[in-house]
Amino acid sequence: MRGTALTNVSDAQNVASLRTKGYAHSKLDLASDWELFAESWDNLRPDTYMADGGEYRVRRYSEFSVNGTTGAANLLPHVAYRQERDVNHLNGGIDRLYEPFESRVVDSDALARAFATSAAYLEAVRPGRTWKAQCFQNRIMSTPNEIGHPAPEGVHRDGVDFVLTLFVDRVGAQGGVSSVYTLRTRACWQKRSWRSPENTSSSTIRKLMHGVTGLSLEEGQEIGHRDVLIAMFTVVED
Ligand SMILES: [Fe+2]
Repeated sequence: MRGTALTNVSDAQNVASLRTKGYAHSKLDLASDWELFAESWDNLRPDTYMADGGEYRVRRYSEFSVNGTTGAANLLPHVAYRQERDVNHLNGGIDRLYEPFESRVVDSDALARAFATSAAYLEAVRPGRTWKAQCFQNRIMSTPNEIGHPAPEGVHRDGVDFVLTLFVDRVGAQGGVSSVYTLRTRACWQKRSWRSPENTSSSTIRKLMHGVTGLSLEEGQEIGHRDVLIAMFTVVED
């Protein structure tokens, strides 16, 4: 996977926003295989580690190495995902082993583009680094019996340097408002509800916290869902 350079004014504004506020929102140029990429969210697996007993999350997990300078990404060996309890009080403290991304996703131009865009921002903020990207495909579902929670741990941080949230789709559900908070004062800096098919990415770094409100069903719907790609980047130290 090869990278692309940041070239336009909104890119420069986003880099400035990342530096000063710690987050930015941008439009991703959609790859030609976007539809195939998005369809893969129909083939995720139940998350059996939900400490709240919820059955509303299906997902897959894979890790990649991303070169910040070139934007090139390579799949890393499959491992369990782990957060410590001080970062995730609800589901942290244990190894969570999920099914890996399907090859049609690993090899997609859409994923390469998401990495390349992230790498370009990372390179502008912290040049010359290699990054480990811990990635989830997440689908949160709501039914008449269960409200889906995109962030069941509440307002939180991910314990990494940089997070990409790539909005993929939302069907039959409303809510899911994403918010960004300062770590020190917990002041809310930004609120946004992603709408299908907006395909927008947002990025935050370590000094922020974030949360997402629950998903409720749209009137007349029996099931609804919200799909995102999460990529959590950490600098690989030499
Ligand atoms: Fe998070």
